Amino acid sequence: MININAISKRYSNTDAPVLSKLSLTVADGESVSIRGASGSGKSTLLSLIAGFESPDSGSITIGSQTLPFSSEKNADRFRRQALGVIFQSYNLIECLNVWDNIAFTSRLKGNSDDEYQLHIMGLLGITHLKNKPAHQLSGGEQQRVAISRALVHKPTLVLADEPTGNLDEATSDKVSAALYDTCQSLKTTLVVVTHSDDVARMAGQQRWLRHGQLHSEPA
Ligand SMILES: Nc1ncnc2c1ncn2[C@@H]1O[C@H](COP(=O)(O)OP(=O)(O)OP(=O)(O)O)[C@@H](O)[C@H]1O
Ligand SMILES: [Mg+2]
Repeated sequence: MININAISKRYSNTDAPVLSKLSLTVADGESVSIRGASGSGKSTLLSLIAGFESPDSGSITIGSQTLPFSSEKNADRFRRQALGVIFQSYNLIECLNVWDNIAFTSRLKGNSDDEYQLHIMGLLGITHLKNKPAHQLSGGEQQRVAISRALVHKPTLVLADEPTGNLDEATSDKVSAALYDTCQSLKTTLVVVTHSDDVARMAGQQRWLRHGQLHSEPA
């Protein structure tokens, strides 16, 4: 369960707070999609949930873990074991090939599972890219590698920032179905930020971020 209670966040260079007493509850295994204008604070919210940054006020708990983490070591352990993050910029390791990029986190965790990795890559249609170095991939291919990397260690929470932003419509449908289905079958909680109505509608809960808060209806 994610429980976000009245968090606010302001950056020093902005007049208005980006997030203002924002609250959200997501049950274990549930999915929620978040839409909102560019600059409304969607990536900021994901970054706070991942504990990369801290809110100025309010509280965030993820399962039994209350943020902020007590140490960087605990944060690392939590992210490695429980969290899969699909960044808006893919953050692949350029010099590694596709297979090694995807396996990276599960190897750190010491539980890489080649068969499961192949299964995930098959769902995302990238098995044929296995040996290709990351720097030779198209944007959409990098995106699918980043999604595979976020799912392959079977996290309990996946945070996805525009996971289909670089894909054509047919590939977007296939990839978003793979993302939702995988999370559902693993009972993984999923928070998806997207500009796509089709991707957003697949979520159990739909929210719109505006004026620093989440709403249940579009403006
Ligand atoms: N590290 C930062 N330092 C200062 N300002 C920031 C920082 N990160 C984000 N902002 C500001 O906070 C606001 C929200 O940014 P954020 O990236 O969360 O928007 P977004 O909803 O994800 O937009 P997009 O749809 O374009 O990705 C923007 O005005 C941005 O300039
Ligand atoms: Mg963003």
